[in-house]
Amino acid sequence: MEDKATLKLANQQFDFPIIEGTEGEKAVDLRKLRQESGYITYDDGYGNTGSCKSSITFINGEKGILRYRGYSIEELAEKSDFIEAAYLIIYGELPTAEQRATYSDRVLRGANLHAGMHHLFEGFPPHSHPMGILSALLNSLGSYYPEMATNDRATDLANFDNASAVILSKVRMLAAMTYRMKNGLPAEYPRPGLDYCENFLHLMFSMPHKPYEPHEDVSRALDLIFLLHADHEQNCSTSTVRMVASGGANLFASVSAGVCALWGPLHGGANMAVLKMLREIHDRGDDGSQFIEDAKNGKARLMGFGHRVYKNYDPRAKILGKYSERVLRALNINDPLLNIAKHLEEKALSDNYFVDRKLYPNVDFYSGIILQAIGIPLDMFTVMFAIGRMPGWIAHWRELAAAEKGRIHRPRQIYTGANLRAYVPIDQR
Ligand code: SDX
Repeated sequence: MEDKATLKLANQQFDFPIIEGTEGEKAVDLRKLRQESGYITYDDGYGNTGSCKSSITFINGEKGILRYRGYSIEELAEKSDFIEAAYLIIYGELPTAEQRATYSDRVLRGANLHAGMHHLFEGFPPHSHPMGILSALLNSLGSYYPEMATNDRATDLANFDNASAVILSKVRMLAAMTYRMKNGLPAEYPRPGLDYCENFLHLMFSMPHKPYEPHEDVSRALDLIFLLHADHEQNCSTSTVRMVASGGANLFASVSAGVCALWGPLHGGANMAVLKMLREIHDRGDDGSQFIEDAKNGKARLMGFGHRVYKNYDPRAKILGKYSERVLRALNINDPLLNIAKHLEEKALSDNYFVDRKLYPNVDFYSGIILQAIGIPLDMFTVMFAIGRMPGWIAHWRELAAAEKGRIHRPRQIYTGANLRAYVPIDQR
């Protein structure tokens, strides 16, 4: 392999080292480019830029490969569960039985919220979007654990295990409390003996007159959705977490920023947008054929399709596509939206517009159908994505915080504004 890249600029030549990742990805190390040449790179959207080295997740977009700490997403989806995958992503190894029991207990024990936090919900208007509430309350959570949110790197790292368990546990409570507050329901409290997903569904749906009865297919479906969303390299929200963490901010503030980035319809908001799109197609009696034409003509965007990295099938979409049929069958639901989704997928995958642009279903294309089937309300879909992605955000915060020479993230720019000009008093403008 070449060990250097040579750049010719004007009448000068510059050599830069080549670095190679574990799976053979290659990069030109340009960290000295400006210092040596005075030039910077320009890469709008960072599609060609590696912002860091990371050992957490590996994606090969051309081959549709996704691995958490070296384990394939297919094997983890089949044999593991969300809490075990969270431990793997955060700590780097699959837990032993004892480590798993200790971790589960720590996550369970952390579920309750400080009584004072309940008042924070009362301040939000009923129409508030759950993602706005979640990001605000995750940041506020740090105020109740000041020893874990000091913005002193060494102290925050020393308290990382407790802080991460608090966040992973309480994010469910914050989400469920948001749903209950918006629906005028009294608060619920975690129930011992239920696993991570069962307790979340209990917190969401138990009523004073009718406690939520766990349903194995439902909690398994939610667990799979969380597991499949648990991490995904330097996506928009994870890069945001790392950006905020690079300034020395604590874990609570950093994951709160991740929620804000995830909220956007091009990112985590896509699962909601897919359901709205399928409902719109269904309500106008279209089988999807007309919508495909609209998408090709730029009149619509086929939400849940396309990906910056996957130029082949998103492996998570494959798993969820199969699982959605199984969940609907198990719950005896005949959802016409699934048929429309399958028809859209079939049409798009044989249409040159999508084939030429390497547009395939992504993780959001089927997740909404499953979330709807298990009773999650539409405006909570992206919150489900946030709960699932929490282990990844936590792991990336720790990887950055523990790095030896952690530098603040501060990209450059190409200035296109006005040249120097003199101030003109207002009466002369
Ligand atoms: C997630 O980064 C991650 O890893 C994200 C994620 C994670 O786990 O964190 O995987 C989660 O965010 C998945 C993506 C969810 N978003 C959507 O489903 C929204 C619909 N998808 C698109 O908006 C788009 O595909 C993106 C945002 C996902 C990717 O955008 P890019 O890489 O910037 O691609 P682009 O917008 O430059 O599109 C390239 C071409 C354009 O056509 P031309 O200008 O070449 O003619 O493809 C077209 C686009 O118009 N195109 C689509 C399309 N997506 C891209 N056309 C119709 N429908 C689409 N969905």
